[in-house]
Amino acid sequence: MCHGRPGVGKTRSAREFSSFPDLAEYAALRPIAPHLAEKVARCRAVFYTVSVSNTPKTIDAALGLNLIKMGYARLTVASGSHEEATHDVARVACPLVIVDEADRLSIKSLEHLRDLSDRQGFGLILMGMPGLEKRLARYAQFYSRIGFVHEFKPLTETEMRLLLATHASDFGITFDPAQLDAIEAQAAVIRITRGNFRLMERLFAQMRRIMTLNRISEVSPDIVQAARDCLVIGPGN
Ligand SMILES: Nc1ncnc2c1ncn2[C@@H]1O[C@H](COP(=O)(O)OP(=O)(O)OP(=O)(O)O)[C@@H](O)[C@H]1O
Ligand SMILES: [Mg+2]
Repeated sequence: MCHGRPGVGKTRSAREFSSFPDLAEYAALRPIAPHLAEKVARCRAVFYTVSVSNTPKTIDAALGLNLIKMGYARLTVASGSHEEATHDVARVACPLVIVDEADRLSIKSLEHLRDLSDRQGFGLILMGMPGLEKRLARYAQFYSRIGFVHEFKPLTETEMRLLLATHASDFGITFDPAQLDAIEAQAAVIRITRGNFRLMERLFAQMRRIMTLNRISEVSPDIVQAARDCLVIGPGN
């Protein structure tokens, strides 16, 4: 189980890790397009976002279907032909499923996921907000299966410094280490965002807007403060 505050990067890192391709165009037992075959070979997990209203039926329609498709796709890629891919799909089905927004799961859906994972033998990662682990403690059978809990933490101050030094330009802002104003502005960004990726994106977007409107090219603490004043930052961020 993984949990972390909003905007720390749970969804993004799970998507990057899983490299789960879009299987909408693929039909099981059909030939597989070469570009999709490449993606299937690279895929490490099936990524599934729980819908707001979920039932075992909706999970089967989305995750269940993708598991079947993935099983056939992997078998087709492994055997080199879709005609070979008619045997035991579960044998090669994806070994790992990552479930995002797991806080939304109803009791029945949770039970259904446990049942699917027991029967098909895949590993299951549930991702959600802090407190998910306490909620699940009420369901003894599910809880007894949890191997470990990982918390996504925001970046530390040192990590933020490194990130801003190497990647600030990706956000459309540069901090000149030789300028006092830029050093102070960087410290203000670190203080306000506290290592939260979503806050960083929002703050930098406002900073860019203010700098463009006022035709300013150098960052300063005043710009950071003006951008900060445009944002709502809750205690959960
Ligand atoms: N390692 C990263 N590098 C660059 N951008 C990132 C990184 N991690 C997250 N982000 C960006 O930060 C924003 C928030 O990330 P993400 O949606 O993954 O957060 P989350 O933890 O899933 O939040 P929530 O709990 O609200 O779903 C996204 O726009 C994402 O692209
Ligand atoms: Mg998310």
